[in-house]
Amino acid sequence: MSEELHIPKTNNRAEIYAALMPQIEALVQGEKDFIANTANVMAVLKEAFQFLWVGCYFVSKDNGNELVLGPFQGPVACTRIAKGKGVCGTAWATDETILVEDVEQFPGHIACSSLSKSEIVVPLRKKDNSVFGVLDVDSEMPNHFSEIDKKYLEQIAVLLGDVFYE
Ligand code: SME
Repeated sequence: MSEELHIPKTNNRAEIYAALMPQIEALVQGEKDFIANTANVMAVLKEAFQFLWVGCYFVSKDNGNELVLGPFQGPVACTRIAKGKGVCGTAWATDETILVEDVEQFPGHIACSSLSKSEIVVPLRKKDNSVFGVLDVDSEMPNHFSEIDKKYLEQIAVLLGDVFYE
């Protein structure tokens, strides 16, 4: 595909995600390099929604007990997160999407940026269903994420899982 994104001019987030999905699919299917694909998908989400922070953490290859920072867009972030810690480490440990309406109410939330007020973290799974990382999206606004984000971010996580290789 061309390197230009088509983003519908609407505030309807579902409509924007729906327009992005085929473009994301074309982006990742035309390229084998997983880091390049992840980097571009983070850029798509940042450009389309101007979220505060959009990025991936991957299970560390030298230490299977922590996540290490991957491609992201937004402010500088924590590089390592232990399994079960913070929203990311909890999403990894429980293998479930976690939608946090108010980060101050999430016990153990890791504040990489004091600007972050709400957050959604989606596990990234290999074809054998084991978790190899997480997709993390942060917003400066409280209660900024809904079931719409969960639905589409989970679909994006599946696309990334499909093109993942070790
Ligand atoms: N808030 C996350 C840490 C990652 S940053 O938000 C980029 C957490 O609690 O796991």
